Amino acid sequence: MTVPARASDYPSRQVTVIVPFAAGGPTDTVARIVTAQMSKSLGQNVAVDNRAGAGGTLATSLASRAAADGYTLIAGHMGTHAAVVSLYPTLNYHPKRDFEPVSLLAGTPIVILARKDFPPKNLEEFAVYIRANTERLNVAHAGIGSVSYVSCLVLHRQLGARPTGVPFSGTGPAMAALVAGEVDYMCDQIVNAVPHIKSGAIKAYAIAMPERSPSLPDVPTTAEAGMPSFQARAWVAMFAPKGTPPSLIAVLNAAASRALDDDNVRSTLQALGAVIPPPEQRTPGALADLVDAEIDRLSPVLWQAANSTAHIDSPWK
Ligand code: MLT
Repeated sequence: MTVPARASDYPSRQVTVIVPFAAGGPTDTVARIVTAQMSKSLGQNVAVDNRAGAGGTLATSLASRAAADGYTLIAGHMGTHAAVVSLYPTLNYHPKRDFEPVSLLAGTPIVILARKDFPPKNLEEFAVYIRANTERLNVAHAGIGSVSYVSCLVLHRQLGARPTGVPFSGTGPAMAALVAGEVDYMCDQIVNAVPHIKSGAIKAYAIAMPERSPSLPDVPTTAEAGMPSFQARAWVAMFAPKGTPPSLIAVLNAAASRALDDDNVRSTLQALGAVIPPPEQRTPGALADLVDAEIDRLSPVLWQAANSTAHIDSPWK
């Protein structure tokens, strides 16, 4: 039998944060930066455990059934805790029913990326090229329901394209394949892309946000590059299994928020293009509202994209 921990002596041993994707990707990167600082303030190791599979849903399902004792948490995101509701009719967890929100950790804009020798020189050429060559192009993603899958699904809907998807256990390994030229392009969260764009290992066509990112000042917004209708953003957050005592959630929330106020954590995340949520967006209630809003926002978009009959109504010629 699990004895619920009391906030006064919690945590008294290691806390595990499951990352439902491979090491080296954006979820892993954000989780490791924040949990390293949480370990210091909680006085116990907060360890990351990467468990990839099925677009993050395997591990998220596992986390939903973990003991609600504050010792097993999950780093979820816009995919695992919102988009999947629309994409998996028989999903065996629900982001709302089965999790307690702990804290939003980062906002992560989406960037349209390609291997460095991909022929299109800008986003308008990219749109034309993707449509003309859709049969022979490969787009990397991290599995159905992942952020990379969802973001390029929406992009393809707008372009009227249906390239071959190549699933990876996370966009860490997908990025390695993109750098190696083994896949053609990808829609990924900025934190995974910045070092490779800066080193010239990959191309970036546009950031799908209204404003440029200070970490990628030379990369145009989709609006500047001629595709204002493609806007895509994601986020990474921490959740606990449903039933985790509110007193423990409060301890974790305070530790996560303190980590996000730490100068080193902030500068490391910001250098990678992550947007640090202001304090009012870090509360469990604010994260619950975000999950609700994201499920509602994504549901019609994904229904339409998944049922698209491709090129018929695309504005891109
Ligand atoms: C995603 O596409 O959902 C993420 O990039 C997965 C990851 O963190 O690797």
